[in-house]
Amino acid sequence: MQTTMKDTYAYYKTAFAGLPMPFAFVDLDRLDRNIAAIAQAAGHKKVRIASKSIRCPEIMRRILASSPVYQGIMCYTADEAAMLIREGFDDLLLGYPQWQPDRIAELVRSVGEGRSITFMVDCAEHVQHLERIAAEQGIVVPLCLDVDMSADYPGLHFGVWRSPLASWEQVRPVAELIIASPWLKLDGIMGYEAQIAGLGDQVPGKPLKNSVIRWLKKRSIAEVAKRRREVVEGLEAIGASEELRFVNAGGTGSMDSSRLEACVTEITAGSGFYSPGLFDAYSGFRYEPAAGYAVEIVRRPRPDIVTCMGGGYTASGAVGIEKQAQVYLPEGLELLPLEGAGEVQTPLRVKRGLSLSLGDPVFFRHAKAGELCERFLQLVAVSNGQVVGEYVTYRGMGACFV
Ligand SMILES: Cc1ncc(COP(=O)(O)O)c(C=O)c1O
Repeated sequence: MQTTMKDTYAYYKTAFAGLPMPFAFVDLDRLDRNIAAIAQAAGHKKVRIASKSIRCPEIMRRILASSPVYQGIMCYTADEAAMLIREGFDDLLLGYPQWQPDRIAELVRSVGEGRSITFMVDCAEHVQHLERIAAEQGIVVPLCLDVDMSADYPGLHFGVWRSPLASWEQVRPVAELIIASPWLKLDGIMGYEAQIAGLGDQVPGKPLKNSVIRWLKKRSIAEVAKRRREVVEGLEAIGASEELRFVNAGGTGSMDSSRLEACVTEITAGSGFYSPGLFDAYSGFRYEPAAGYAVEIVRRPRPDIVTCMGGGYTASGAVGIEKQAQVYLPEGLELLPLEGAGEVQTPLRVKRGLSLSLGDPVFFRHAKAGELCERFLQLVAVSNGQVVGEYVTYRGMGACFV
């Protein structure tokens, strides 16, 4: 049983003793608790796994095998989908529109062979492009409509810029194009409320900003539910809902609100499984840090500073301090603002009383979930104090999609 941070450091240090650093790891005991907690948080909805936040087939298999709540994958590129098909996964939803005709055609052929692959669209051009490819192949292709869930307030776009379809009036003509085509089928609708699911509202040292975000989120939750309901009702009214297989919502950070929407059939979740640094900053839930990486202390430039080999894996998105990797274990180490976590060297200030030797590991957590796997060939799996496996990451498979 891991109790204090000190215990956890000793636990990982012993379990991973002798492994060459750097390495990335996944704590299977914590991961399993997160998997169970996320299944619970989904209420009566299914959960589709966001592969971008996992990037390791073995982990996705583990999640899918854990409970019937988990169903299908939201993947991010056509090449990734093709790889997942080869790996034996099915029920793939491409979370983002794809354009490259040869890649799409390859997947369409897989649809023809009985695989369940759904393509994301948000405009007539997407629909016509896919229709051309579907017709060329003579195969009926399932599509999902991405409905924008952001909110426009005076002076503030609360959410992300993705789909131009933000109302039933805007969705309708695109839905009608799909329904009218003999080569297309409206399989699902998706709305990703990033301003709720992907935005922390308990960021340390930002009390005012946090309370504004919490207020905006509350307001936005009601608007999102209304917009999604109107789109589903609109589709029902034009007879397009009969074929609809799913209504997908949210992400890890919106499970509490997404599960309350009657029309939603499934919620996407990915980040919560590893629970990286940015996911400590939500007021409504907390999962356990289940993944990280170890770097080795190789020098001591001053008695109160140790320097590690490597360590600088910064997360994508708007640049800010929160995208920096977090020094996790042992407690009492601090990144230096002028250097941060470096490309080859990472100096850390050591709290008085903490004794560390050359060769000791320092464990970090990435700010985001799946990006960790772009830096390492495998995740060393630990359970019950033992290394129990090495799970190859996308990078380890030689795969690099975006
Ligand atoms: C379309 C879409 N759905 C869902 C998610 C949620 O994923 P996660 O649970 O990893 O935050 C994302 C994340 O960016 C996304 O882009």
